Amino acid sequence: MFLRKVLTMCCVAGFVLLAGCQKKQAVATYNEGINIVPKPESIQERIGEFVLSDKTGLVVNCNNQNVGQDLFLEKVKKATGFDLAANEKQGNTIELLIDESLTLNDEGYTLSVQPEKVLVTGKTNKGVFYGLQTLLQLLPAEIESDKVITDMTWRIPAVKVIDQPRFVYRGMHLDVCRHFVPVDDVKKHLDMMAMCKLNKFHWHLTEDQAWRIEIKKYPLLTEIGSKRIEGEGTEYGGFYTQEQIKEVVKYAQERMIDVIPEIELPGHALAALTAYPQFSCTGGPFKVRNLWGVEPDVYCAGKEETFEFLSNVIDEVVALFPSEYFHIGGDECPKDRWKTCALCQKRMRKEGLKNEHELQSYFVRRVEKILQAHGKKMIGWDEILEGGLAESAVVMSWRGEKGGIDAANLEHDVIMTPYQWCYLDWYQGNENVEPVAIGGYTPLKRCYEYEPLPAALDAAKQKHILGTQGNVWTEYMYTPQLIEYRVYPRLLALAEVNWSAADNKNWEDFLKRLDNQFVRMDCKHINYHIPLPEGPCNNVVFLDTARIAFTTSRPVKVVYTTNGSEPDAESAVYTDTLKFTANTTLKAACVLNTGKISPVRTITISKTETIPSIDAKVKGNGLNEAYNAGTYITTNDIKDSETWKKRTNKMAPIPPYTDYSYQQPSASIFTGFMNIEADGIYEFNTDLDQFYIANQLLVDNNGEVKRFSRNVSTIALQKGLHPVKLVYLNNIIGGWPQCWNGPKVRYRKLGEKAWKMADSNSYRLQK
Ligand code: ACM
Ligand code: ZN
Repeated sequence: MFLRKVLTMCCVAGFVLLAGCQKKQAVATYNEGINIVPKPESIQERIGEFVLSDKTGLVVNCNNQNVGQDLFLEKVKKATGFDLAANEKQGNTIELLIDESLTLNDEGYTLSVQPEKVLVTGKTNKGVFYGLQTLLQLLPAEIESDKVITDMTWRIPAVKVIDQPRFVYRGMHLDVCRHFVPVDDVKKHLDMMAMCKLNKFHWHLTEDQAWRIEIKKYPLLTEIGSKRIEGEGTEYGGFYTQEQIKEVVKYAQERMIDVIPEIELPGHALAALTAYPQFSCTGGPFKVRNLWGVEPDVYCAGKEETFEFLSNVIDEVVALFPSEYFHIGGDECPKDRWKTCALCQKRMRKEGLKNEHELQSYFVRRVEKILQAHGKKMIGWDEILEGGLAESAVVMSWRGEKGGIDAANLEHDVIMTPYQWCYLDWYQGNENVEPVAIGGYTPLKRCYEYEPLPAALDAAKQKHILGTQGNVWTEYMYTPQLIEYRVYPRLLALAEVNWSAADNKNWEDFLKRLDNQFVRMDCKHINYHIPLPEGPCNNVVFLDTARIAFTTSRPVKVVYTTNGSEPDAESAVYTDTLKFTANTTLKAACVLNTGKISPVRTITISKTETIPSIDAKVKGNGLNEAYNAGTYITTNDIKDSETWKKRTNKMAPIPPYTDYSYQQPSASIFTGFMNIEADGIYEFNTDLDQFYIANQLLVDNNGEVKRFSRNVSTIALQKGLHPVKLVYLNNIIGGWPQCWNGPKVRYRKLGEKAWKMADSNSYRLQK
């Protein structure tokens, strides 16, 4: 849809110039200049341009190797309609050449563009491939279109590019277990990776919540392990057949990407253990986990059968993945079961292992041997350092930089993926406006600023840092579109971190180049993140004047309307605090320089009066609670005919509020009064399903995932007591167990920064 808009814009601009004098097409601003991401090592601009046409020829001198020529031809044909592969070309030429004598690293290339000739020279076939990606990025962004665009001049500015990557490992990780990613969507990520010169796809295939790869010897792994019953009661499933895995691996290979499988062990294995409980300590039975988090049941380290099973699984997996690396997980393995398992304890005695961390190390070393027999290098998350690092292991540092530094100091290779910069499941904007995420805050700039070589690591050890990777854990990415929203454009920032020299990076320049990349992503139908207007909540009340100030997670234009209409790129531009003295529906959105607009926020601004407190008879702190056992997903599940039990409740401050458990779903309705300390306008936010105060339904999260509720509302309250009703459904929605937060309400007086958690002192029991 957006592409059509871009095309219309181009046509309109073209028409204006045509009506002028010469037949010269306007260049869209996002196509002006050079916008390559990641930024090449050196670009020398020359005079003139090469114009790609149906007369252009392609000459390939690459020893019959795949250098991406077919993909290039296919892309050019799709967008331009030109068949460069057809014979007898009389026009300008593009030549592809492998020259092993280039003084660049193995993936390096040079690209010379002159009016009659483009020459891409790679040190290897990979170098030529990356040179071709750069060539594509010199063309107008519409070269990524999947439909022929006819009225476009396909100019390539004359340049000389010399380029090579900074790091050899340039990755993207994808968890397809928490939420499944169909093959076509995986391919979209691989296309994006190729475009930004990433070369390792780390495919997280097994988890507590699913096993997603067909293993012929153990069919129950997918028959049972690929499905779970969600807390809401629906079945969720999906897996890849071995044929589909081969298809993805081939697709990646054509794009110079190695696919690294991750088969998690010894923890995060509940899906496998549900299918084959005999490889656990207790023998089960189990259910595939429908909560996020970490499962205590793990593979039994005392049973020989466990290693035989894993060895058989690995036999089949290595046959599908030619990559030199194999990821065994190794993170977050609770030791509870091993501590009480006779066989695990026997193993520890027999092997002289001092504690369960050493038992984990023993486990990982045995798997290392299996992988070595297949000629594979083992990667593990940084917990594999605990209890002794396996001799040949490559460490993936995720809990900050320390694991990576320690491993490099032990002369082990390292991939840096510290969560503060590399976790693409973290929020990229304010949690009150963004779709629910796991937590954290990693806006685009933070990803861009990441430096993979830790300052605390000696220069002599820095050679062990192979590169970095964006990690995509999909607990709170319920659809492939939401995954794209979280991944892009942050992956492009990490691509530049990986490829470009640190002193060649520049945030403002990156932002400028990003405009062109956005249009490329539009062509690829990628649902990338656009900042949202942040600041006010959606329900603002005022006494005299409402003041609305917007911020954004990075510099971007905010537009708005006040007449209820949908804002577009031409709407009023926000520059400073808006003031309102009458009821208004304020609609606001962010607009990129390309003209593309973010989702629209609707903010209801209402004049109000302070609600008087009431003179209620109360008898101490707390609330009355009516409660019932059962699965209540929304408040509609509460039936008038039900009889509920009653008790008084102290609403003790969290944590923990222990009366609720995800194993015993229930619902509670709390009633009583809230004591407001001073007159004022208050903002309320809660993880409850509903929160009523002064007889208004102020916050309604009914049916949503409430881990970080976005629903914030304001109300003007007089000092004193106000009736409240709290509706708490102790259920699991979207993998989030409501009891982890308990029935919490937070509030703050307008203008205050810190939120206050309501506790027993805030509430009064009715007499
Ligand atoms: C991880 O994020 N648990 C590696
Ligand atoms: Zn055991």
